[in-house]
Amino acid sequence: MPARIRKAVFPVAGLGTRFLPATKSMPKEMLTVVDRPLIQHVVDEAREAGIEHLIFVTGRNKGVIEDHFDRQPELEETLAARGKTAALETLAECLPEAGAASFIRQQAPLGLGHAVWCAREIVGDEPFAVILPDVLVQAPDKGCLAQMLDVYNSRGGNILAVEPVPDDQTQNYGVVATGGADGNVFPVTGMVEKPEPGTAPSNLTILGRYILQPEIFGLLSEQGAGSGGEIQLTDSMLTLLETQHFFAVEYEGRAFDCGSKAGFLAANVAFAIDRADLRDTVVAEIKKLL
Ligand code: UTP
Repeated sequence: MPARIRKAVFPVAGLGTRFLPATKSMPKEMLTVVDRPLIQHVVDEAREAGIEHLIFVTGRNKGVIEDHFDRQPELEETLAARGKTAALETLAECLPEAGAASFIRQQAPLGLGHAVWCAREIVGDEPFAVILPDVLVQAPDKGCLAQMLDVYNSRGGNILAVEPVPDDQTQNYGVVATGGADGNVFPVTGMVEKPEPGTAPSNLTILGRYILQPEIFGLLSEQGAGSGGEIQLTDSMLTLLETQHFFAVEYEGRAFDCGSKAGFLAANVAFAIDRADLRDTVVAEIKKLL
């Protein structure tokens, strides 16, 4: 049995320029899908998968994320005095156990690879998960990370969640080259970040969920800037692929790229109509608009 995955890293230090002016003073990761911030959705996914320690890589202007995962005694007292038990329960269930969340600063947004590297001291010498909060996965049964852990527990190595996209969209993503599929699992033979149109090795794109071995940190510390002038996680994973196994998992469910406006709005509709308390009214409102 491979070493247990106990820790998840959430890179939340990006500038969120695609959502300006909303993200001028509010972190992109606090934008809400229905009534939970993006970051809460992915923390829920991690906790469902059995993750015990949450590591947030934050930056300037992100203090409110830290507050979100802390208690709010005044608010709690007011809710209790007014008998708002359901609201109190919601707050309690969102709160990590004391000591189970760490916050570290990426002092400059030099790229996803650099953000992950900033977590090296807290992760230490054990395999860990990375979850991007701007990708939400609506899964029918088990969350995306839990599905990846099923594969990891039987095969070990490094695991990437992948999703097929139309061929003309591969240039927007990290793309994997793979060997033959075993069910929904593909051995990874190569990776490229944002390939030139027409040059992608497949249409399977890396989605924002990773299980990585700690050797990635040594490679990230020497990684130069890549695509977009940023330190890219994909470039170091490609080097790690020379000595370790990577498996791509085509998970069950649907992903929403909440870093883009259309993906974010689609996620709000999809998550709302998935809720018994909202479905009918939201569907009626959408029909009126159309
Ligand atoms: P994005 O590539 O979506 O970048 O980052 P961004 O800065 O958040 O948004 P845009 O493109 O300017 O609109 C994916 C995830 O990685 C984090 C972001 O916070 C986001 O959760 N990230 C990105 C970092 O933590 N540090 C970085 O240097 C870059």
